[in-house]
Amino acid sequence: MPGRRLPRPAELAEILRPRPFVLNPTDRRLSRAHTIADLRTIARKRSPRAVFDYTDGAAELEESLRRARHAFGDVEFSPNVLRGVADVDTGTDILGKRSELPFAFAPTGFTRLMNHEGERAVARVAERERIPYTLSTMGTTSIEDVAASAPDARRWFQLYVWRDRGAGRDLIQRAAESGYDTLMLTVDTPVAGARLRDARNGLTIPPALTLRTFVDGALHPAWWLNLLTTEPLTFASLSSWGGTVAELINTMFDPTLNYDDLDWVRENWPGKLVVKGIQNADDAREVVNHGADAVVLSNHGGRQLDRAPTPLELLPATLDSVNGSAEVWLDTGILSGGDIVAAIAMGADACLIGRAYLYGLMAGGERGVQRTIDILRAEIVRTMQLLGVRTIADLTPSHARLRRGS
Ligand SMILES: Cc1cc2nc3c(=O)[nH]c(=O)nc-3n(C[C@H](O)[C@H](O)[C@H](O)COP(=O)(O)O)c2cc1C
Repeated sequence: MPGRRLPRPAELAEILRPRPFVLNPTDRRLSRAHTIADLRTIARKRSPRAVFDYTDGAAELEESLRRARHAFGDVEFSPNVLRGVADVDTGTDILGKRSELPFAFAPTGFTRLMNHEGERAVARVAERERIPYTLSTMGTTSIEDVAASAPDARRWFQLYVWRDRGAGRDLIQRAAESGYDTLMLTVDTPVAGARLRDARNGLTIPPALTLRTFVDGALHPAWWLNLLTTEPLTFASLSSWGGTVAELINTMFDPTLNYDDLDWVRENWPGKLVVKGIQNADDAREVVNHGADAVVLSNHGGRQLDRAPTPLELLPATLDSVNGSAEVWLDTGILSGGDIVAAIAMGADACLIGRAYLYGLMAGGERGVQRTIDILRAEIVRTMQLLGVRTIADLTPSHARLRRGS
């Protein structure tokens, strides 16, 4: 056996290659995130616990979310080889307009709670990446301000129907006047889901200064400093509120919501109409009969009904039921580009992502949302290449199936 020797300095110099130092501290932090799960870890460290839990949490036992995640883990891909996949096109048409990626940003309420850059940051990334952005009725930036911040973004507005129908009509009108081309009516929230983490954390909107949050302030000074030194955290479309999210929903939202209201929305909205929160195939057909251009199979990220159907599992029956007369989209539990590719292969026309971009936002504001997109895009491209597929249209059910029951 050859004896040992000391390495020569030239040999050492060759292998000593420290990573280039990233000057911007946010970029430095984000460069360590290689998956959405990594962004979630950073988000957790940087946010007050109640804020992280509000974003990360779901309702009751959180089974709806866990099962949705589990279904994506249960996917088995079936690749084709020798297909020449040097160039991949991730673009697709969503409701008649091209999106450079097969997903859109889902509506999320109270986005400036996660990071003071809030909705504007997300909309700007959507504009840059040419994917749609949905502003929530519960947003913390107004319809007009989002439009001004991202004038070239494809903007959608999500509507909750309130007891006060006049206020709803007003919002629809403002959205149309500000160039939002699609209205997304959310129908899975007649009452608030039981988000137990929020109840246990005593989360109120806006966050109240209590002894506990004061102590938390010492642990997350940057978040609190941003909260206190930027525009006050309020709902843009609601007058000020001082209670919990559940109290707000149960006070403002109308539990009598029914098909007449859907017809009312259809009559009052000139653009494309999407109905979000569909949880069975018959309802999907019914809302399409009432004029929906697309349905979103969704259990609201597991934040409403617990032990709800899993959107990916509902997909085949819904596609049969709708039979090509509307687009079928899907959300809940998407945390990777592979999840999105699987959903599209199994027949979804597009996906929505919620927490995946909120974790990015919490980890690093607009740059963090950009990191989310960079990660998802790289994962989508790589998965398509490994499947032997070059375009979104070429993804078919032959490429992905659920293993369970087989
Ligand atoms: C913090 C948070 C706030 C949300 N707010 C809204 C909302 O205001 N309106 C709505 O229709 N859906 C809302 N959702 C649901 C999302 O639009 C989407 O259905 C869900 O996040 C998808 O699941 P995912 O987070 O696992 O991607 C919210 C979700 C989260 C996580």
